[in-house]
Amino acid sequence: MSSARVIQIVLVLTLCLGLQAKVYTRCQLTRELLKNNFSRTFLSNWVCLIEQESDRNTSAMVVKSPRRKYYGLFQIGSEWCKEGKKGGKCDITCESLLDEDIKDDGVCAVKVFEAEGFKYWAKWEARCKGHVLPDIEKCPDWVHPPSRVSPPRDKRTIRGKRNVRRFSRRAIFLSQPY
Ligand SMILES: *[C@@H]1O[C@H](CO)[C@@H](O)[C@H](O)[C@H]1NC(C)=O
Ligand SMILES: *[C@@H]1O[C@H](CO)[C@@H](O)[C@H](O)[C@H]1NC(C)=O
Repeated sequence: MSSARVIQIVLVLTLCLGLQAKVYTRCQLTRELLKNNFSRTFLSNWVCLIEQESDRNTSAMVVKSPRRKYYGLFQIGSEWCKEGKKGGKCDITCESLLDEDIKDDGVCAVKVFEAEGFKYWAKWEARCKGHVLPDIEKCPDWVHPPSRVSPPRDKRTIRGKRNVRRFSRRAIFLSQPY
C-alpha cells in the first residue's frame, strides 16, 4: 500500500470518528446507562467515573505510551481490546470504544469492573471514592427509567447465547397463568 493511500485511510477514519463523537450531558448519560442495563445502585459512581475520565466524550482517547492507550467514555485500557480487529480481554476492537454506540463500551466496562472493581479507574479512586457523587436523582430518566426488561447487566453472565435461551424460557414461564 502506498503511503498516500495510508494517509488517505487514516484521514477518512479520523473524520468518521470525529463525526461520531458525542458529548453527553449528565442526564443524557444517566439515560444511556440506564438503557444499557446498568444497575441503579452504582449509577452515580459510573457517572462520576465517566465525567472524571472522559468528560462524557464518547471519542476521548489518551495515549500514555504506544502500548498503553485508553479509549472512550470509560477510558478502557488497550489490554481489553485490540486495534483493527477483535481481541483483548473484552474481545472487541479498540475503535469500537470510540464511536457513539456505547453498548459495547458498557459491556466491556462491566467486565473491567467485575475483574478489578472501580479502583481500576485511578480518577474514580482520586475524585469519586468518598466524594460527593453527581446528583442524578433529578434527571427525568432516573425518576421514570427508560423501559428495560432484563435484570441489571452486572448480574448477568457473559455468555450471551445462554442468556437468550434462559430469558426466553423465563418469559414463557412468566406468561403462564398461575
Ligand atoms: C437491556 O435489556 C433489554 C431487555 O432484556 C434488552 O432488550 C436490551 O437489549 C438490553 N440492552 C443492552 C444494551 O444490553
Ligand atoms: C472529544 O474527544 C475528541 C477526541 O479526543 C476531541 O477531538 C473532541 O474535541 C472532544 N470533544 C469535546 C466537545 O470536548
